[in-house]
Amino acid sequence: MPTNSPVFLLFLLISTIFLQARALEYPQELDYFFYPNIIGIKSPTISPPQSTSFISPSPSPSPPPSTSFPLVPAFFIVGDSSVDCGNNNFLGTFARADRPPYGRDFDTHRPTGRFCNGRIPVDYLALHLGLPFVPSYLGQTGTVEDMIHGVNYASAGAGIIFSSGSELGEHISFTQQIQQVTDTFQQFILNMGEEVANDLISNSLFYISIGTNDYIHYYLRNVSSVQSLYLPWSFNQFLASTVKEEIKNLYNANVRRVVLMGLAPIGCAPHYLWQYSSKNGECVEEINDMIMEFNFAMRYMIEALSEELPDANIIFCDAFEGSMDIIKNHERYGFNVTTDACCGLGKYKGWIMCMSPEMACRNASNHLWWDQFHPTDAVNAILADNVWSSRHTKMCYPMNLQEMLARKAR
Ligand SMILES: *[C@@H]1O[C@H](CO)[C@@H](O)[C@H](O)[C@H]1NC(C)=O
Ligand SMILES: *[C@@H]1O[C@H](CO)[C@@H](O)[C@H](O)[C@H]1NC(C)=O
Ligand SMILES: *[C@@H]1O[C@H](CO)[C@@H](O)[C@H](O)[C@H]1NC(C)=O
Repeated sequence: MPTNSPVFLLFLLISTIFLQARALEYPQELDYFFYPNIIGIKSPTISPPQSTSFISPSPSPSPPPSTSFPLVPAFFIVGDSSVDCGNNNFLGTFARADRPPYGRDFDTHRPTGRFCNGRIPVDYLALHLGLPFVPSYLGQTGTVEDMIHGVNYASAGAGIIFSSGSELGEHISFTQQIQQVTDTFQQFILNMGEEVANDLISNSLFYISIGTNDYIHYYLRNVSSVQSLYLPWSFNQFLASTVKEEIKNLYNANVRRVVLMGLAPIGCAPHYLWQYSSKNGECVEEINDMIMEFNFAMRYMIEALSEELPDANIIFCDAFEGSMDIIKNHERYGFNVTTDACCGLGKYKGWIMCMSPEMACRNASNHLWWDQFHPTDAVNAILADNVWSSRHTKMCYPMNLQEMLARKAR
């Protein structure tokens, strides 16, 4: 990384101005500036309400539900930047999407904290479920009324491993997010009584999308010599068993319906095409191999867990398969730019992260990638439709979400 180049210094300056006077620890290694998902020096458990909003508090709009009544009472989300809808707006971190051009094609045409030009997959799923867009945990008021249809706890930069992405400011780790879920449930129980609350929780849907940062910010960076200690296979086994324990914690809190989302092919993300000097935009196979192994380990773990918890409905959706189907058949899907991000600078627009409207393409809808690491709204819509009903291709095991919800609680 050319950390002494003039462009880099300019970038530093701009970043600093963008971040305003937040109490933000200065990064130890400037490299990390280039990662949008970066985060968390120390990650305190933060409870709403927060008084430090510095984008205008315009929570997600709530388009009218697409069905006459919701299919589940509430929709809860934990994860990383793939599903963060604004939690990081309240944290001191470089991993924030609260400036244009982020959100320019969203319903409000304003930045919300989503790492996308438009909607993220859980927005599309909320519509399928007949629910309003789910508010971020730190962006809502913390009252039961605000949380009754669901809460999104996801935080950009978070990983399964506590310290993944702990380079550049704050984030809320996976374990901390699960603790926040438990806090919300306690509030439900106090407010509506144990029976009603448990009924709501067991009928609600949980969506987990995490793990990319354990590669981007941990394994691939060889933090703590991890690559010498673990082969990708055992690293993945470790991640899978951690996720398994957390799903069991949710189960013990009466959660019964879970979607675990696998990882996308980040070996095809513009940042890695740039970093590995890809020829003709070919994906970085060594990264994709690890991601495939991760997904395999998770799928297998979910299969075993389902046997252990027979009254739970848990599915695994393989975002790698869904995304490779889009890449392979991109013309049929209407994408003609498959390697370059819409927004960024450098080869494949993968060198410098998306920071200003001038860095963005005109029309993101024929691009697969919005920025260095994140897909466009158009891709999110396709993936969400596959999770929901296998519309374009099968990517969920052993069944899709619609089929899962049609099953009676056992
Ligand atoms: C990871 O870091 C350790 C210690 O710095 C080093 O010995 C090892 O070769 C590194 N592994 C790779 C694959 O770079
Ligand atoms: C993709 O398609 C758009 C509109 O059809 C066109 O303007 C653009 O030049 C195309 N880009 C590439 C890289 O082919
Ligand atoms: C963007 O491109 C898509 C597909 O190529 C097209 O349908 C749409 O009208 C374009 N939007 C704008 C604002 O040009």
